[in-house]
Amino acid sequence: MIKTAKDIEDMTKSELLEHLNDTVKPEVGEIPAYVLADPKVYDLEHKKVFMKTWIFIGHESEIPNKNDYMLRDLAGYSIIVSRNADSSIKAFYNMCTHRGMKLCRADKGNKSAFVCPYHGFNFKNNGDLIGVPLQKNIYGEELDKSTMGLTEVRIESYKGLLFGTWNDEAESLDDFLGDFKWYLDILVGRAEMEVLGAPQRFVIHSNWKIGADNFVGDSYHTMVTHGSIAKLGMVPSATYSKMGYQIHSENGHGLNLGTPNPDFAFPEELIEEYKSNLSSEQFEVLSNLKNMIGNIFPHLSFLISHTKVKGQLISNTTVRLWRPIDHDKMEVIAWFLVEKNAPEDWKRRSRESFVLTFSPSGIFEQDDTEVFTDITAAAKGPMPVMKNLTYNYTMGLHRKPVDFIGPGVAYDDKFSEANQRNFYKYWLELMNS
Ligand SMILES: [Fe+2]
Repeated sequence: MIKTAKDIEDMTKSELLEHLNDTVKPEVGEIPAYVLADPKVYDLEHKKVFMKTWIFIGHESEIPNKNDYMLRDLAGYSIIVSRNADSSIKAFYNMCTHRGMKLCRADKGNKSAFVCPYHGFNFKNNGDLIGVPLQKNIYGEELDKSTMGLTEVRIESYKGLLFGTWNDEAESLDDFLGDFKWYLDILVGRAEMEVLGAPQRFVIHSNWKIGADNFVGDSYHTMVTHGSIAKLGMVPSATYSKMGYQIHSENGHGLNLGTPNPDFAFPEELIEEYKSNLSSEQFEVLSNLKNMIGNIFPHLSFLISHTKVKGQLISNTTVRLWRPIDHDKMEVIAWFLVEKNAPEDWKRRSRESFVLTFSPSGIFEQDDTEVFTDITAAAKGPMPVMKNLTYNYTMGLHRKPVDFIGPGVAYDDKFSEANQRNFYKYWLELMNS
């Protein structure tokens, strides 16, 4: 047991790291409370996690046309993600290279060039500086525009999911996702998918890790936190969330597959499209799927949820980012995804089921965010460090993995905390990197 009663505030970086290594013990299921609400942990996390890994920035379908663009956040920095004239997608740091002003301030739009609101320097959406007001007159022949292009951001995509990183040394996105791609195929590669509407955004007073933790492995809370949903008849029973598999892979990724499902909750018209995009094993999982909840490390959670809307079972698919704003504050950004070739009426009902469950007005969302903010408030300040307050993450430690049709380490019960232990194991690894 760690003896320090020293404030984290007074620790040097190496003392903090030592303290983290002494107190964060995922292998025995022990996580200290302070990691959820300490400003210094948050600062270190920003450097070691968010500046190092791949961060989700959006879906390709959000900018379908040439010259479409959207502003996104990459580890606290604004970036412009733009579809160029040749249809390729590029991203740039949203900063004029002349004096550093934010070049673009609209959330999204269609533009082939961006004009800086400060001195009017203008940049093509491929990053080139193409115009400087009164250039010849005030700079003579001295200004070399070719050295003043926008700072390009490294981006890669998987099945329409776009990720960016500031780390030029990072492994490829493909390698980072690794085995987990098998499950992402079911989530977003099963058919041509599109984002419907703008992502929903709201700010809550919660540390980002609570959202990631909840989605990566916490099926257990469903029967209590969301108990009212069973009472409303939107799911069959309170223990609905227990049956199925909990699976994790390398790099902290993890998901929960709810099975079996007696009813196919996807559009029947698309069965052939699903079969052509998925392996027979993946299609088998989709056919039996009751729900699928998980998290791509560090903070892109996802969900396929089946609910009864007006007596009919229907699935909805969402990806959501727990975007950190501060140690005790995050913006939740939730995208609704749907099969592009599904009947319009099916899309409408699927969206209705999303809005009813996960969105600022959704029943599940409101249940969860209430919990997230209380946990954050309880973890703040010096007391949790002085008293060595820890959370218990031992559920399922006695279990042995089972054989499963897909890759990764799988357990045949969703009520386990193996995925959270895997999440924190990788988190600690990165904090030490
Ligand atoms: Fe929940």
